[in-house]
Amino acid sequence: MKSRHFLTLLDLSSDEFQALIQRAIELKSSNDLEYEPLRNQVLGMIFEKSSTRTRISFEIGMIQLGGNAIFLSPRDTQLGRGEPLEDSARVISSMVDCIMMRTHRHDTVIKFAQYSKVPVINGLTDRFHPCQLLADMQTYFEHRGDIAGKTVTWIGDGNNMCHSYINAARLLDFELRIACPKGYEPEPELFAAAGERVTLMHDPMAAAEQSDLVTTDVWASMGQEAEQQQRMEAFRHFQVDRTVMRNAAPDALFMHCLPAHRGEEVSADVIDGPQSVVWDEAENRLHAQKALLEFLLVA
Ligand code: CP
Ligand code: NVA
Repeated sequence: MKSRHFLTLLDLSSDEFQALIQRAIELKSSNDLEYEPLRNQVLGMIFEKSSTRTRISFEIGMIQLGGNAIFLSPRDTQLGRGEPLEDSARVISSMVDCIMMRTHRHDTVIKFAQYSKVPVINGLTDRFHPCQLLADMQTYFEHRGDIAGKTVTWIGDGNNMCHSYINAARLLDFELRIACPKGYEPEPELFAAAGERVTLMHDPMAAAEQSDLVTTDVWASMGQEAEQQQRMEAFRHFQVDRTVMRNAAPDALFMHCLPAHRGEEVSADVIDGPQSVVWDEAENRLHAQKALLEFLLVA
């Protein structure tokens, strides 16, 4: 049977996304220590970039489901010395049961998946971060119920997280308003594919108006360190602060995938304030990914 991969959210149907959210909520409240459907199964984790949440949540998720996870740094494997991706995918997937990859180029996960015999999960690429959206949406459902028909505001860079929010809006049917500086818009094809439910603006205050969820991310993503200064200047008016949150709905939530830079994309009083659910969001990486691993690996 052909493996099912999870490279972007669009690898799921709307129903599957909804079911994963419900299953994640269920797993979170379960005390069943005997439930080990992934006994003897091993997840290979390939990281070209740093990670705290993704690495720990996948590793612990596998352990809790009865399996194991191994960390494969390109620095210490032949991947970093130029062994072809196709060969590496064939070899690694002949031994492990699932592969999670965090890479610079999205093309890398696509190619790896083409040659892998087992499911490949995107743990972040320059274009998408679908695992984070599983956790974000779980968090919204837990706090406020169904997100269909609600308004979500993305403030900041049109980056991998923004792209995944666009895909989530398509699948879960919410309105997404994106406020980004000129020149930092999301990819036009992705934006266009989402149709009328996604709008692009350049004014954070207008974008936040009566919104149910305000979310943001760092101004310079991993790999963009050389642009840091230029980006600080370009994004200067795109901080989620108290004024922006006051423009949103009174019960609006604030999310951030983390790591965050207080005083840049978000003020300390917002991220550490009562509307912020960032710690639930981070914890839910574990529960949402357990639901994903179960979905991909348990028949
Ligand atoms: N949000 C997120 O993916 O965090 P890490 O980079 O720590 O994995
Ligand atoms: N956009 C950020 C997300 C980190 C989890 C990055 O790619 O660095």
